[in-house]
Amino acid sequence: MKARIDDNLVTFSLDSSGESLHKRGFKEAVNKAPMRETLAALFLREAGYTGTEPVLDPMCGSGTFPIEAAEIAMGLAPGRARSFAFENLASFDAAAWETLRSSVAPRSTDQHFYGSDRDQGAIAMSTRNADAAGVSEHTNFTCTSISDLKRPEGPAGLVIINPPYGARIGNKKPLFALHAALGTTLKTEFRGWRVAIITTEASLAIATGLTFSAGPYVPHGGLKVRLYQSGPL
Ligand SMILES: C[S@@+](CC[C@H](N)C(=O)[O-])C[C@H]1O[C@@H](n2cnc3c(N)ncnc32)[C@H](O)[C@@H]1O
Repeated sequence: MKARIDDNLVTFSLDSSGESLHKRGFKEAVNKAPMRETLAALFLREAGYTGTEPVLDPMCGSGTFPIEAAEIAMGLAPGRARSFAFENLASFDAAAWETLRSSVAPRSTDQHFYGSDRDQGAIAMSTRNADAAGVSEHTNFTCTSISDLKRPEGPAGLVIINPPYGARIGNKKPLFALHAALGTTLKTEFRGWRVAIITTEASLAIATGLTFSAGPYVPHGGLKVRLYQSGPL
């Protein structure tokens, strides 16, 4: 409980969550620029993802997008593996909470969720995180660079990518070449798939050569990012 006194106004605030909500309770391994799970879920929904298509992230880092997409498809409640600060309140109704928790029914899915990254460490992290989240039966992680990326067998789905931005990691110039290479791979390998890219700069999305519509700005790690999404390629 916090009390803030401003002149003759006292504001009490009570933290009902405890740990931040993006901490789902299973992810131990994170890379240097992870996307928060809450933001990943938001961008998947903004891209129209409902759990009925395969999802692929070719720069998957710690695996946030494939794991979050698998959880959506499998009907797994976010935060199922953690506790919340409201459970310590005097008025907490443990029976009502248990009823609510057990009302979330997992679904079976025949979809697959793919992650790749050029960094072997990222792939090891993603594999551990998918195991801990209980979704590894439906995920597949491989160490592959963008230029060697191949379309997975099966139906078309959603490619969702959170590439490096340059503001935090390295500088921007090589990023234009990276985005151009990404666009070439997507156009040649991923016919019929939709593409969603989260980035800080319209010019980086444009460098892919794909046609996108841009969503609203969202704060992320001190920056403002947007989702750029295409129709089926
Ligand atoms: C911003 S991080 C992605 C973070 C990820 N969304 C997460 O939540 O952990 C960008 C990733 O792109 C990868 N990457 C950079 N260049 C690449 C390339 N040419 N091919 C494949 N992966 C690349 C990096 O290794 C890094 O893991």
